[in-house]
Amino acid sequence: MKYKSQAVAYYFFAVCMLLLALQIVYGFIMGFAHLGFDGLHEWIPFNAARAVHTNLLVMWMLSGFMGAAYYIIPEECERELVSTKLALLQLGAFVAVGVTAVIGFHFNWWEGRKFLEIPRPLDYLVVVDVLLFIYLIGRTVWQAKRHTTTSIVLFFGLLCAALLYIPGMIDTSSQTMDSYWRWWVVHLWVEGVWELIMGAILSYLLIKLTGVDREIIEKWLYVIVGFTFLSGILGTGHHYYFIGTPKYWLWIGGAFSALEPLAFLGMAIYAIAMAKRGGRSHPNKTALSWTIGCSILSFVGAGFLGFAHTLPQVNLWTHGTLVTAMHGHMAFWGAYAMIILAIITYSVPAMTGRKLHDSGMNIFAFWTSNIGMICMTLAFAVAGISQVYLERKMGMDFLSVQKEIEVHFLGLILAASLFTLGIGAFIWNFIRYGLPHAEAQGSDSYKN
Ligand code: HEM
Ligand code: HEM
Ligand SMILES: [Fe+2]
Repeated sequence: MKYKSQAVAYYFFAVCMLLLALQIVYGFIMGFAHLGFDGLHEWIPFNAARAVHTNLLVMWMLSGFMGAAYYIIPEECERELVSTKLALLQLGAFVAVGVTAVIGFHFNWWEGRKFLEIPRPLDYLVVVDVLLFIYLIGRTVWQAKRHTTTSIVLFFGLLCAALLYIPGMIDTSSQTMDSYWRWWVVHLWVEGVWELIMGAILSYLLIKLTGVDREIIEKWLYVIVGFTFLSGILGTGHHYYFIGTPKYWLWIGGAFSALEPLAFLGMAIYAIAMAKRGGRSHPNKTALSWTIGCSILSFVGAGFLGFAHTLPQVNLWTHGTLVTAMHGHMAFWGAYAMIILAIITYSVPAMTGRKLHDSGMNIFAFWTSNIGMICMTLAFAVAGISQVYLERKMGMDFLSVQKEIEVHFLGLILAASLFTLGIGAFIWNFIRYGLPHAEAQGSDSYKN
């Protein structure tokens, strides 16, 4: 770690670990409810568990992106952050808003809009908090002597993510318009600007871990940004098929979203090619596994499984079923969870000065969580496809179908247990590192 202020990232990553663990607890609550064991229903009904599960997901990912930015920006800009105290305050406020929201969901204080359940007064606090974050990163970049493509793409991705939160706050009494704006946030985040954040972290990690020239790696980053915008912006149309918007979205959404996998394919080819070119000479091999794994599984989860239901002819049948949950799990895991776990695996040894990155525990964490998530995706796929046939092709009613497919959730629970074992090992290894250490500061621990 070259700059002292980079250590602030550690606390963001610690929050990530905590929220990920909590998110998994709520996943199990829903998994058991699907299996027919809904004993907690009185206190945590399915809708509350679902809102907590997905909002904790978004929160730990934002915390991970912020931590990644606080770690990467000083090194890319060759200067300290403008203020670590304000960064910690920003984290504290972020956690306070998140905790309030999650508690509120249990008391039915929510907006009922999938992924954007946070009640309006808290939305304003989120905006203030994110503005502080953007100010801290922006000022550090602005005052830097060096501006790299990686730092500019990362900053631009974060800034756009912040701005795109606002359309979700537009007040309307029309269900169609509400849905229309909701997708500006949800879709343009995960299939737009979050891809830029992911691309920039990927580029940083590949520069560090493969030793390939920055010029070559960053040239690819432009191609990925280009593909993402070309396909992802009009690709939003794949959510406008059946919500009451004009018919032309059927072909615009279908055609452009069908091109979206190209950006993910580009990232996979790029990461594998760079790793091959650089050889496996870097001491932190597990970080490289997470990095390459991310590029591959994001293509599978987002690219391949996204494409599987993106054409209107298919989406007509699969819309809003467990097929969506199948894709949602693997896409979020492959693209965003894995890139965050990659930057944590890379940076925590550097911040704490303890070299536990290639420990047996960490390697176990990588394989077990990934195999577990692949099996979870398969379990959701089987349940989802059965649901589509029974409910939509055969016309059985929703609840009878839910009863029919209960059995598939046994498979889900088993796979999720394997996944949880892997995540448990990752978190345990994270705890073993201990806190950031003064001796680790001021030197480049990996000499890269
Ligand atoms: C990392 C990137 C991605 C993530 C994290 C992601 C995640 C998700 C999630 C969570 C949903 C459910 C959203 C909701 O109902 O509110 C969803 C829906 C959808 N995604 Fe993705 N996705 C990604 C990329 C893609 C790509 C590249 C495609 C197309 C090629 C795609 C196609 C779709 C479609 C068609 C739906 C609507 C499903 C429905 O009608 O129920 N996704 N995605
Ligand atoms: C032990 C682990 C987990 C279990 C048992 C679990 C289970 C579930 C269940 C049962 C649902 C609700 C499906 C429905 O609507 O009926 C759900 C939703 C969701 N989970 Fe998980 N989950 C787990 C971990 C994760 C992780 C690690 C991620 C992200 C990387 C994730 C992302 C999501 C998303 C995005 C949704 C919403 C899907 C949609 O829009 O349809 N889950 N989860
Ligand atoms: Fe989308």
